[in-house]
Amino acid sequence: MATRNLQWVLASRPEGAVKESDFRLVESELRPLEQGEFRIEVLFLGVAAVMRNYMLNAEKFERPLAIGDVMHGRGVGRIVESRNAEWRVGEIVHGKMGWQQYAIADGSAYFLMFKVRQRVAPVSTALGVLGLTGFTSYLGLVDVGAVRAGDRVLVSGAAGGVGSNVGQIARNLGADPVGIAGGAEKCALLVSRLGYRVAIDYRAGDVSPGIAAAFPDGIDVFFDNVGGEILDAGLAQLRRHARIVLCGAISQYVNGVERPRPLHNAYAIFKKMARMEAFFIYELSAHFERAEAQLAAWIAEGRLIYQEDILDGIQRMPEALLRLFAGRNVGKQLVRVAG
Ligand SMILES: NC(=O)c1ccc[n+]([C@@H]2O[C@H](COP(=O)([O-])OP(=O)(O)OC[C@H]3O[C@@H](n4cnc5c(N)ncnc54)[C@H](OP(=O)(O)O)[C@@H]3O)[C@@H](O)[C@H]2O)c1
Repeated sequence: MATRNLQWVLASRPEGAVKESDFRLVESELRPLEQGEFRIEVLFLGVAAVMRNYMLNAEKFERPLAIGDVMHGRGVGRIVESRNAEWRVGEIVHGKMGWQQYAIADGSAYFLMFKVRQRVAPVSTALGVLGLTGFTSYLGLVDVGAVRAGDRVLVSGAAGGVGSNVGQIARNLGADPVGIAGGAEKCALLVSRLGYRVAIDYRAGDVSPGIAAAFPDGIDVFFDNVGGEILDAGLAQLRRHARIVLCGAISQYVNGVERPRPLHNAYAIFKKMARMEAFFIYELSAHFERAEAQLAAWIAEGRLIYQEDILDGIQRMPEALLRLFAGRNVGKQLVRVAG
């Protein structure tokens, strides 16, 4: 039984971009469990763009972080010790674990913890396609975007954790997905493996001509992960009664809070009688089981492939987070901590 824990703590709050020096790796003693608690050996940790906001205490749904606190984050791991009858040793769970080798939880709502029961894919997928990332893709497109067969669907951030599922889900539902990503390599992947009919490379220039060429009659659903200029370009190409799903706005996370880029084409929402809706996946937890069942079924049928980008070793957590903002990840960015 291990007695020591490696933990990444917040060393400083980011000014501008996140830096590796904003984190510090510390070693500590494992503390004994209290009644109701259980200990998890973390197998994989995920990173997400929202983590920069955690560092700034800018997300109300997370507990504030003081300098020296263990960085927040979701993981998947095995229960190795338990003083809670509902959470048993040996069970695999995913939930809030923090950037560390051993986490303690108590099953309360804060930890947003679930047992991994599916056997169709490796446990790491509980942080990706069969976890909140996949549920975001599915529920964002189906419930928020109200996608229907035949819909023309535009997806930005299409090679990221969320976007790499959205194109395949759209295709599986009989819709016609087109993806926007950065660089020729990612764009080739979108078309060859991730279900997109066409890919548009935003690093090669203005995306507007590419969108117009891919959808001469306009877009029914725009699943936007990026915000800013790319959101604005999509708005200019809406069809009547289009739905714009605001899933994320990664291009605005660093400077957008102080200086959000104005949307010059917002008037099109009115003209096209479109609906633009943001959502937060934690608020859709009543639908997770439905999403998981459908995603797992498609994986089993070979109709949904998942893309993971795995770094080895807890030492690489800051590097993993920085990769998102640099656009270096292809699919869900994970770190293997053990196993
Ligand atoms: N609403 C919710 O509840 C919810 C849940 C989960 C995630 N999200 C949000 O959804 C979005 C996607 O999440 P994810 O996990 O798929 O992200 P991800 O895997 O972290 O992908 C991030 C990708 O965004 C692209 N990107 C980064 N900076 C960009 C910029 N300035 N302009 C355009 N593209 C940029 C990069 O790919 P390229 O190389 O293609 O640029 C990068 O690989 C994020 O904004 C995230 O915050 C929302």
